[in-house]
Amino acid sequence: MATWSAPGKVFLFGEHAVVYGKPAIAMAIKPRVFVTVRKSRNPTRPKSPYINECFRVMGVRGSVYVRSQLQSSSGLGSSAAVTVATLSAINDEFNLGYSREYIAETAFAIEKKVQKGRASPTDTYVSANGGMVLITGESKRRLPPENLHLVVGNTMVPHSTAKMVEQVANLRQHHPTIANPILDAIGELTLAAIREMSNPKELGQYMDMNHALLEALGVGHPASSRLVLAARASGAYGAKITGAGGGGSIIALCPRRAKNRVAGAIEACEGRAIITTIDTDGAREEKHD
Ligand code: MEV
Repeated sequence: MATWSAPGKVFLFGEHAVVYGKPAIAMAIKPRVFVTVRKSRNPTRPKSPYINECFRVMGVRGSVYVRSQLQSSSGLGSSAAVTVATLSAINDEFNLGYSREYIAETAFAIEKKVQKGRASPTDTYVSANGGMVLITGESKRRLPPENLHLVVGNTMVPHSTAKMVEQVANLRQHHPTIANPILDAIGELTLAAIREMSNPKELGQYMDMNHALLEALGVGHPASSRLVLAARASGAYGAKITGAGGGGSIIALCPRRAKNRVAGAIEACEGRAIITTIDTDGAREEKHD
């Protein structure tokens, strides 16, 4: 029996712009998904299409038990974490000897298949490897880990990443001279933010700018605006949508002493708050017997 876990992720900067080759920064965060796999001749068929596909691709049969600290459809990469943890547990239980890179790439291919064509290579890469990552087109560079105090606010409004990505593509098609400079500006502020990683006041300001640019792209939602404003008003350095928007989650960068207050303000606006920070571990073995 093998139990592996994999973390969720947030985009600190650059979501949507990353789809057009601009730089983005993503970070693994503490809530994790735990998956236990056990060899079995007559396993019951798992309900999750992601898990089914993991067993099919790895060519083995086994029973599976999932425990998740990540809400699905919240924009925190829960399906990527489930897929990465399941592949890692299968790899271990059946002694298959695949590398972390192979697990990340296979998880991306599985997400693409299950989601019928659209998936984020960022989600699976960050969940498999942990830490903070700069993504530019196909390239992924690990950044020095920074202990940022974050509060994630889940609006509890379900969203579709595919729909939001399509919406931005339509805007770009119909108003290229407006949409392209917004995407360029997001790319520029992402690069500027890298230089300010240890300066939370500056970083917060960049988050606020990134949020405004995401709203200009049309991926805002009344619920995310409410949470962002509540976080700022209760002492956050800055706050923004994280991920695809149109609901989903926001992140707020906070002074250590303001974390609980910001989380309370988010909950008072009917959001669900998670106080978190970077998770430098990616997929991790929890137990093997
Ligand atoms: C979704 O979490 C982030 C987007 O940038 C899409 C992607 O990176 O694949 C909107």
